[in-house]
Amino acid sequence: MAEPLIQTVDLTKIYPMGEHHITALNQVSLTFSRGEFAGLVGPSGSGKTTLLNIIGTLDTPTSGTAIVMGADVSSLSASQAAQLRRQHIGFIFQTFNLFPVYTVYENVEFPLLLLGLSPSERRRRVMEALEWVRLADRARSRPSQLSGGQAQRVAIARAIVKKPAIIIADEPTANLDAENSFNILDIMLNLNRQLSITFLFATHDEKVIRYLRRKITLFDGRIAADEENGGHNTRSPISSNSS
Ligand SMILES: Nc1ncnc2c1ncn2[C@@H]1O[C@H](COP(=O)(O)OP(=O)(O)O)[C@@H](O)[C@H]1O
Ligand SMILES: [Mg+2]
Repeated sequence: MAEPLIQTVDLTKIYPMGEHHITALNQVSLTFSRGEFAGLVGPSGSGKTTLLNIIGTLDTPTSGTAIVMGADVSSLSASQAAQLRRQHIGFIFQTFNLFPVYTVYENVEFPLLLLGLSPSERRRRVMEALEWVRLADRARSRPSQLSGGQAQRVAIARAIVKKPAIIIADEPTANLDAENSFNILDIMLNLNRQLSITFLFATHDEKVIRYLRRKITLFDGRIAADEENGGHNTRSPISSNSS
């Protein structure tokens, strides 16, 4: 059997809080294969962000292991973790996190500056990424000149420009209206299908959940359910009404 892309075993994260502590993750064991379109769901505070941050090497566990593309995240030095992120992991956040003084083009180019590519190769990749999100004509704009939906599409372009194996998207639709949410979900699903990029979401947005092919429910830092999901890929409301 092929090595899993991501594997956690008994992953536990405890935050000290004065005399008490918070168990954000409690012995979470999960495996993700290449090409998944999977989401963590569950109430606020259930541990979704903590789990994504550990998989994304932005945080480390208190105990247990997380193996990401063959590397044990606990044993990576800061620069090794940065190297893994730089090459293989893209992030999309709820608040877009674009650099306001940079143009759209410069924001998308940024992750490539550390990869030692020629200027012409960078340009080719940036324009290709902007075409994926249908914003090639806005390359010279600044983030303040974009709508929220456009800003999130730039963030997607920035996340995919290096062709990462994994994209981590933490509540990516939380600041978007329904139309823009469906737009970015369609884009991400196409990227998953056509470029085989693995997507891991954290969300409590029903619109996102409808697109997922696998739904993992967290509750109090534990896995409450891990199930196949329709991956309905539809904008029309799910209706049980047969009229
Ligand atoms: N840096 C931190 N320090 C202390 N507690 C934290 C920290 N980050 C998260 N927590 C706590 O860990 C639990 C899980 O948080 P989080 O992973 O952000 O959940 P979710 O993303 O599902 O809302 C919550 O109780 C939260 O308050
Ligand atoms: Mg969260």
